[in-house]
Amino acid sequence: MGSGARVYHRRMADIPRIELNDGNSIPQLGYGVFQVPPEETERHVSRALEIGYRHIDTAAIYGNEEGVGRAIASSGIPRDELFITTKLWNDRHEGEEPRAATEESLERLGLEQVDLYLVHWPTPRRSNHVQAWTSLVGLRDAGLARSIGVSNFEPEHLDDILAATGVVPAVNQVELHPAHGQRAVKEWCARHGARVEAWGPLGQGKYDLFGEPAVAEAAAAHGITPAQAVIRWHLQHGHIVFPKSVREERLRENLEVFDFALDDAEVAAIDALDPLDGTGRVGSSPYDVH
Ligand SMILES: NC(=O)c1ccc[n+]([C@@H]2O[C@H](COP(=O)([O-])OP(=O)(O)OC[C@H]3O[C@@H](n4cnc5c(N)ncnc54)[C@H](OP(=O)(O)O)[C@@H]3O)[C@@H](O)[C@H]2O)c1
Repeated sequence: MGSGARVYHRRMADIPRIELNDGNSIPQLGYGVFQVPPEETERHVSRALEIGYRHIDTAAIYGNEEGVGRAIASSGIPRDELFITTKLWNDRHEGEEPRAATEESLERLGLEQVDLYLVHWPTPRRSNHVQAWTSLVGLRDAGLARSIGVSNFEPEHLDDILAATGVVPAVNQVELHPAHGQRAVKEWCARHGARVEAWGPLGQGKYDLFGEPAVAEAAAAHGITPAQAVIRWHLQHGHIVFPKSVREERLRENLEVFDFALDDAEVAAIDALDPLDGTGRVGSSPYDVH
């Protein structure tokens, strides 16, 4: 953490909530636990909850839902103050599998209902994203998930599920950061009333976002760290964001982003980091995951 960063204990009420298209709402900033080792997850999530995070993003494939569940159980935080997301993995899209997978995730999380359940990838080679989405609509109606959405869906996949069910996902969670701005996906979501969640919001540390002059200069101007400048850029664009860290000082730093604002020129300079041709992507293309 650089000098000048603001770090203090945050009250839950300080984190804004974003309204979803089904009447529910989600804390705009949370904690994602991709690649947090299962044996360490309880400790890190417990610490995040102590610091003030209330929104946790996990997935069946991360193998750490049990650790999330143990941290929730020992936190003493009322269930309705927490927002827990998990995701249906790719090999469970068909038949009775989505329901079985959801029940297994709920068991591991120690919950009766997840706040947000996502189809993790569209898996185009299997061509069963419509089946998966139809199952999620049923799971929501059965009360196993309060809200449902998708992840890594391109506009063509979104068109397919909307045509088949008439149900717009509450969110689409996609790789999104200054070098990969997801214009087409964001345009679809804005048109249909789905919220956009940003995974890899800091570029997963694979792309040197923090060394980009637009980010470094905004950080210097506000006496904040480059990570805080990037998180703030997401928040001002209305993205739902959940950066991952296993370091306490960074967990605190990533939450201290509500007492300053980037100006329009700073936001535009960071927007301009997107080469607009997809080459800023750091993770997998939805067309390559099956
Ligand atoms: N739906 C999907 O397909 C999908 C895919 C990927 C991720 N996700 C979700 O999105 C969440 C966030 O994405 P991500 O974990 O891939 O990447 P990320 O949050 O962009 O980046 C995480 C990396 O940034 C570092 N970091 C965190 N805070 C920092 C700070 N303040 N200063 C400097 N470095 C910092 C972390 O290192 P340390 O841990 O060492 O601090 C880690 O190496 C995931 O945890 C997961 O919940 C979803």
